[in-house]
Amino acid sequence: MKYNQSNLQARMNELLIEQSQHYLQGAVADYIPALAKVLPSSMGVCISTLDGNVVGAGNYQQRFSIQSISKIFGLVMAMNRVGDSLWKRVNMEPSGQPFNSIIQLEWEKGIPRNPVINAGALLVSDVLASHYSSSKLAFLNFVRSLAGDENIHVNMDVYQSELAHGNRNAALAYLMKCFDNIDADIPEVLSHYFTQCSVEMTCQQLTQSLLFLANKGISPSDNRVILSRKDAHRVNAILSTSGMYDQSGEFAFSVGLPAKSGVGGGIVAIVPNYGVICAWSPPLNNFGNSVVGMQLISKLAEELGLSIF
Ligand code: DON
Repeated sequence: MKYNQSNLQARMNELLIEQSQHYLQGAVADYIPALAKVLPSSMGVCISTLDGNVVGAGNYQQRFSIQSISKIFGLVMAMNRVGDSLWKRVNMEPSGQPFNSIIQLEWEKGIPRNPVINAGALLVSDVLASHYSSSKLAFLNFVRSLAGDENIHVNMDVYQSELAHGNRNAALAYLMKCFDNIDADIPEVLSHYFTQCSVEMTCQQLTQSLLFLANKGISPSDNRVILSRKDAHRVNAILSTSGMYDQSGEFAFSVGLPAKSGVGGGIVAIVPNYGVICAWSPPLNNFGNSVVGMQLISKLAEELGLSIF
């Protein structure tokens, strides 16, 4: 790698300047009205490495709505809680459909294609709601312990907005229920799912929280086993094939890292045996991925030679 800590910092600052107008090519998600309140020109990027270095630029310490990035944390909790039985209820194939598509779920008899499209995340939310006395608190505590910050919270304005505009997610959940693939009551499942989507974190916190995925399931700061080695490998495999929705193929082709995006404009990318990158810029492309976030991660991955392929 041609960068050390100080010239990486300089390069990250420069990248943000290079990208400073490009956010205008995207549009901030407004199908959940509370998400549209964010400043479109906000921009941050952060890299945390397994050896304890953190380099960030721009608004990398500003909290934003993690949205679908939360699907990683939910999945990890469900894998730990119910083990391999999870894979009888959700598949691990790319969907080739928009993240909130209903049509495939009907064809495939209520078994979601993977855990990081909405249907799959609702299924995971059902597992959590059915196995914890308070799944929302358990989720929050899990994320807080990974990030080392007890102040991570749910933005209730975003939560209420999701609930008020969540008919499509409700439709997905009810469809799975009628195929007997949801146990809990639908309002409980939706409430869990919208809660996890409405959590706010910074780029730095997201990189810190996900280091275990770059380290075979072990948190590098305290050697805690967060996930088995085999399951960490599986999560990274799913993120590589499905984490960027319908752009996952292109992302693998051009960047080559397991990654997950959210409609809040965040993207996290796992670099096995090295660390985690998180970029944030709210305006999205037509696939629901951050325009500038994709560019920032793509350039860093290329310049640092990080592709896993
Ligand atoms: O399900 C929804 O509508 C959102 N709360 C989460 C969607 C999301 O982030 C999808 N990602 N790109």
